[in-house]
Amino acid sequence: MSVTILVGTQWGDEGKGKATDLLADQMDFVVRYQGGNNAGHTVVAGDRTLKLHLVPSGILYDHITTVIGDGVVVDPRVLLEEMDELGTLGVDTSRLLISTNAHLIMPYHLELDRVTERYLGRQQLGTTKRGIGPAYADKVSRIGLRVQDLTDEKIFRQKLETAIKEKNAILSKVYNRLPLDPEEIATDYMRFGARLAPHIVDTSAVLHQALRDGKRVLLEGAQGTLLDLDHGTYPFVTSSNPVAGGALVGAGLGPKEVERVIGVTKAYVTRVGSGPFPTEDHGKDGEWMQEHGHEFGTTTGRRRRCGWFDAVLLRFAARLNGLTELFVTKLDVLSGLETVKVCVAYRYEGERYEDLPPHQSILHKGEPVYEEMEGWSEDLTQARSATDLPAAARKYLDRMAELADVPVRMVSVGPSREQTLEAG
Ligand code: IMP
Repeated sequence: MSVTILVGTQWGDEGKGKATDLLADQMDFVVRYQGGNNAGHTVVAGDRTLKLHLVPSGILYDHITTVIGDGVVVDPRVLLEEMDELGTLGVDTSRLLISTNAHLIMPYHLELDRVTERYLGRQQLGTTKRGIGPAYADKVSRIGLRVQDLTDEKIFRQKLETAIKEKNAILSKVYNRLPLDPEEIATDYMRFGARLAPHIVDTSAVLHQALRDGKRVLLEGAQGTLLDLDHGTYPFVTSSNPVAGGALVGAGLGPKEVERVIGVTKAYVTRVGSGPFPTEDHGKDGEWMQEHGHEFGTTTGRRRRCGWFDAVLLRFAARLNGLTELFVTKLDVLSGLETVKVCVAYRYEGERYEDLPPHQSILHKGEPVYEEMEGWSEDLTQARSATDLPAAARKYLDRMAELADVPVRMVSVGPSREQTLEAG
C-alpha cells in the first residue's frame, strides 16, 4: 500500500503543485493520470520561475521518476518544448516516462476547440483552447491516435488519414475554416516521435513493478473534483476524471494499493471559465481574494472568479474521492478580513440542501447559507506551526474539518516550502 492520491477538491487551482512538491521527499514516482496541458503549475528552478503544463512537477528531484500516465492527453509539441526548457535550466528529463497508451492531441483538436467555443457563443464553456475536449472525444469515438502510434509511421499515417478526412470536412464545411495538411502533420509528428521514443513505455507495468519493489508512488491530479466529467458541474467541466477513481484508471493501477487520498483545498474558492459557482463574491471581498491571492490562471492568464469557502462542495469532494486528509492552502490570503464566511448549505424554494443538490439548476439559482466567523488581522506568512496561528484562524480550520468530516493535516501560508505547517 504505497500509493498516495492527491486531488483538488474544487474547480482546480487549489495549489496541488505545492502539495506535490512537499510530498516529493517521500516519493519515488510522481504520476500525472488525466488531463493535458490545460493544467499548469509553477516551479522554481534556481533563479528562474517556470510554468509547466504537462511535465509532472516531480521532475526537479533527482530521486523521482515522473510519469505521464495512460489517462493523459499529450500534445507532443508542447511536451518537447517543456522538456527543452527544462534542459536549458540543467534539469535532467531522461527519467520522464510517457505511457504508450496516452492519446495524442492533434492540430485539428486545437482548431476544433477554438471554433466550437466560438460557435457556442454565450453558451461557451471557457475551455483553455488546448484541444483537450476534442482529443478525449476522439478517444471515446475510437478514432484517436496514441503515443505508441508515433513509433510506427505506417500505422500513424493510416490512422491520421481516417481521422483527418472527417476533421477537414467539419472544419471546412461546418466552420468555414481551411483544411489541414495531413502530410505536414505526419512529418511534424514523426519528428516528435523520434525524440520522444526513448521515453515511451508501458507505464502501468513500470508502476506495478515499482510497487512490488516497495517504491512509493504519488498520483497527482490535475484540475479538480468539480471539473470532473462525470461528477462535476457538467457541461462546465473538463473532459477527464480528476477524482480519485480516475487516478487508478489513468495510471493503470488497482485500488488495493491506495493508502492515502489527500484533498487539496484552498481556504476560499476560485474558478476559471464558465459555470455555476454558488459562493462567488462579486463585491469587495471577492476582489480582495483575487488581488491578495494573485488569482490569475496559470495556463490562460484569465482572472479567476473568487468566493467563500463552500463546505457543501468539500463534503461532496470528501465523499467522491474518499479523502483521508485535507491540505489547506492560501490561508494567509484571508488575513485582514473582518469576518470570514463559510457556506454550510444552499437554500432554494424553501428547501435547505446540505449536500450537492440533485439538479444543477439549484446550484445555479440556490442561495448559499453562510455562517459568519470572526476574521483575523495577523499576517500568517511567518507561521510555522499551528500554535503560531491566531485563534480565529485555527477555529476556521477546525470548522472546515468538522464540516467535511475529514482532518486537516497540512496548512499552507505562502508559496515557499517553509511556509507550511502541520495542523495535527
Ligand atoms: P478544458 O479542460 O480546456 O476543456 O476546459 C474546460 C473547463 O475546465 C474550463 O472551465 C477551464 O477553465 C477548466 N480548466 C481546465 N483546466 C483547468 C485547470 O488546470 N485549472 C482550472 N480550471 C481548468
